[in-house]
Amino acid sequence: MTDSHSSNNHSQRSSHEGSEGSSDSRLVEAHSQLAKNKEEPSEGFSSLPIVIVFLFCGFGFWAGVYLTRNAGGFSANTFDLDAPRLVADSGPKVFEADLAKGEKLFIQQCAACHQANGLGVPGAFPPLAGSPWPLGNDERIIKIVLAGLAGEIEVKGAKYVGNMPNIGAGLNDAQVANIVSYVRSAWGNNAEAVTDVKVKDIRKAIGGRGQYSPKEILDAHPLETK
Ligand code: HEC
Repeated sequence: MTDSHSSNNHSQRSSHEGSEGSSDSRLVEAHSQLAKNKEEPSEGFSSLPIVIVFLFCGFGFWAGVYLTRNAGGFSANTFDLDAPRLVADSGPKVFEADLAKGEKLFIQQCAACHQANGLGVPGAFPPLAGSPWPLGNDERIIKIVLAGLAGEIEVKGAKYVGNMPNIGAGLNDAQVANIVSYVRSAWGNNAEAVTDVKVKDIRKAIGGRGQYSPKEILDAHPLETK
């Protein structure tokens, strides 16, 4: 009993000892088995992450467009139902002459000579009120304001030999349009307003030229009425 026990004991120990030597190699074998079952990290790429990246970018782009269109300019007014709405304007802005601004500019730029009442100064500065020069074809007055006028002219039966400088050269297109529109509608004058685009086009066409002579401007744009 004791013997078998001891032999048992011995065999256990010996088997234990025996396995001790091979356990390392078995472990390595088992490990390599396990490792074999794992997928090798593949080279190249899988299309799935690419698709996700594209979807993500697409979403980001869509979100940007959505916010640009619908964020109401990130204005707090967006959530105020009583706030005045910005009307989405379609097409180019149409210039509307501002006669109040035109009058102010006229006082600053023209009234020293033509007077605030547009009647001018007899013998020196011709009148604009009731004059046919500012009326009719608006190119005549726009050109006179932009480039000036020098020589003998007749206005409402009176002769003037004067020299008007190129006032408009120092003003922008909208300012000239406002002054000219004012002159064409003040003191009983009755002609349509002009636009800044018209002034711009004429300014471009005539360039930085010198003053007009009466003959040159009247040949191009004869007075419609005397
Ligand atoms: C420095 C004085 C002076 C200023 C400033 C002046 N003008 Fe004149 N303007 C004259 C004179 C002088 C004539 C006449 C020129 C001539 O005899 O050839 C004249 C002529 C005119 C004429 C054509 C004749 C008529 O009476 O209809 C118009 C139109 C006119 N001016 C508009 C203006 C406007 C608009 C302004 C302001 C932007 C202005 N002028 C500023 C001196 C001036």
